[in-house]
Amino acid sequence: MPARRPHASSHPDLSEILLTEAQIKRRVRSIAREIKAAYGDGEFTLISLINGAVMFTADLMREIDNPVRLDCVRVSSYGAQTKSMGTPQLISSLTLDIRGRDVLVIDDILDTGKTLKLVTELIRALRPASLRTCVLLDKKARREVAIEAEFVGFEIPDKFVVGYGLDFAERYRNLPVIGVLRADRQNPAAWSTS
Ligand code: IMP
Ligand code: MG
Repeated sequence: MPARRPHASSHPDLSEILLTEAQIKRRVRSIAREIKAAYGDGEFTLISLINGAVMFTADLMREIDNPVRLDCVRVSSYGAQTKSMGTPQLISSLTLDIRGRDVLVIDDILDTGKTLKLVTELIRALRPASLRTCVLLDKKARREVAIEAEFVGFEIPDKFVVGYGLDFAERYRNLPVIGVLRADRQNPAAWSTS
């Protein structure tokens, strides 16, 4: 049976596709090589910031053949907004003990930097042996706190993007591409619920 394709490579709610499936896949492979070069053959612990980093984490970890452990952290999200709101809050924390472990934090996008700063500060207090960060996307123009990631997939312009894990009001995470959400779709009140 031919594989069913739930989405075409474009979507009517996107004004522009920034990254295609092939571009994402290629870059995920090369980030995995960069990570491998940093860690060698040793074990490390991946900490994925859910929900946004689910797809990136799932694809990235399949490209890494080191022994890895996985844990997830949930930080409060934007809600139905396209701009960061106030201070992010930790909603659900780690279950693994990371003291003395090599830790790699994975997020979908580095925007103002507040989320990654919060999470890295919390993790650092738990005394890991080392702490590195990896983000698929980096919107440098929007940075409000001084933080950079060790591993960055793509630098992108200051536009609100969805797909490949990134959402607007919990929608669009399942798009296989990353694209700019059309301005007239940035209002969930206008969505049909049927
Ligand atoms: P920061 O704390 O401002 O760096 O925001 C990081 C979080 O905001 C990310 O983990 C994303 O969940 C979300 N975010 C930032 N920019 C976008 C975007 O363009 N589309 C979807 N989510 C975004
Ligand atoms: Mg997120």
